[in-house]
Amino acid sequence: MTPTRDVDAVVLVGGKGTRLRPLTLSAPKPMLPTAGVPFLTHLLSRIRSAGINHVVLGTSYRAEVFEEFFGDGTSLGLELEYVVEDEPLDTGGAIRNVYDRLRAEHAVIFNGDILSGADLGALVQAHCKTGADVTLHLQRVDDPSRFGSVPTDESGRVTAFLEKTPNPPTDQINAGCYVFRRSVVESIPAGRRVSVERETFPGLLKDGAHVHGFVDASYWLDVGTPEAFVRGSADLVRGLAPTSALPGPVGESLVLGGAKIADGAAVSGGSTIGPGSAVAAGAQVTGSVVFDGVTVAEDAIVEDSVLGKGATVGKGAVLRGVVLGDGATVGAGCELVRGARVWPDMTLPDSSIRFSSDC
Ligand code: GTP
Repeated sequence: MTPTRDVDAVVLVGGKGTRLRPLTLSAPKPMLPTAGVPFLTHLLSRIRSAGINHVVLGTSYRAEVFEEFFGDGTSLGLELEYVVEDEPLDTGGAIRNVYDRLRAEHAVIFNGDILSGADLGALVQAHCKTGADVTLHLQRVDDPSRFGSVPTDESGRVTAFLEKTPNPPTDQINAGCYVFRRSVVESIPAGRRVSVERETFPGLLKDGAHVHGFVDASYWLDVGTPEAFVRGSADLVRGLAPTSALPGPVGESLVLGGAKIADGAAVSGGSTIGPGSAVAAGAQVTGSVVFDGVTVAEDAIVEDSVLGKGATVGKGAVLRGVVLGDGATVGAGCELVRGARVWPDMTLPDSSIRFSSDC
């Protein structure tokens, strides 16, 4: 049996994160502050806890910021390497592009935007025990119609990769984490865009390869959208999502060094308040992610929202399910609701926008 210390980890972090714009204009998605640290830190802590040491990051968009922050990985107890794609090669192309850095017979590949509680040791063990070419973490979800589904036979072999349909035959979906035999990584065409989901996996099945499913039902969340991002951060703060990288105790809020919460302000629902931010008296911040140096003025309501670095929320403003880019200002008395995104450094004047007529 291959112990986890004898496998490599590969994390794909090269996507543009378009669904999280404008936050991802200044930082790649895996570097966005999430429960007080860059999102990727939580995943790296999980990899470390599983006993895996050697991690290769497949980067492309804003590639330099990863190495600037994580360096050689020593501070996390890891050996980190970086491989840059000049042009994004998509998920399969990115996996092929790190082939030369792989040292072990098997590699665990992670999408860099997933929070998960699946047991990585058990995943690797299942892969080695069945002798599969590739083993996929398959997540059981309540509403599989929102995803493509992945049925397995009675022995656990994957039988198909099905597109999204209203009535999928199984509740198992591709969870964005796989164990690959090294030779399978080598078989992916080099130097061009390849989608692992649309090209590599269906191709392996067609060629009769052994593709196995490791079915799990523990915590799982893809944080690719603003709604999921705020939920993931709040779940980490409240201890619902697993991590060993939370920079404070589990609780209803995480208030980081240098942040000021005035008497009479309420911060709850797993909110994070970043360093140097200030929440004034009478303001309520619930289930939200507040980056560094943000000002929330008196009596403002901020719910399920992300406030970018240096953003300002004026007195009595209401934000529910909103994303503010870095340096954006929402004037006093404004009301923004679900799905609104304010671009970096833009200013909405006082009382300039409302979605209700109650004031
Ligand atoms: P959206 O643009 O919002 O869909 O986000 P995304 O660009 O991150 O794409 P998606 O969520 O489908 O990507 C899943 C994972 O694969 C993420 O961790 C991405 O960083 C990563 N990824 C996607 N495309 C590439 C690529 O071309 N190269 C590399 N290295 N990683 C990629």
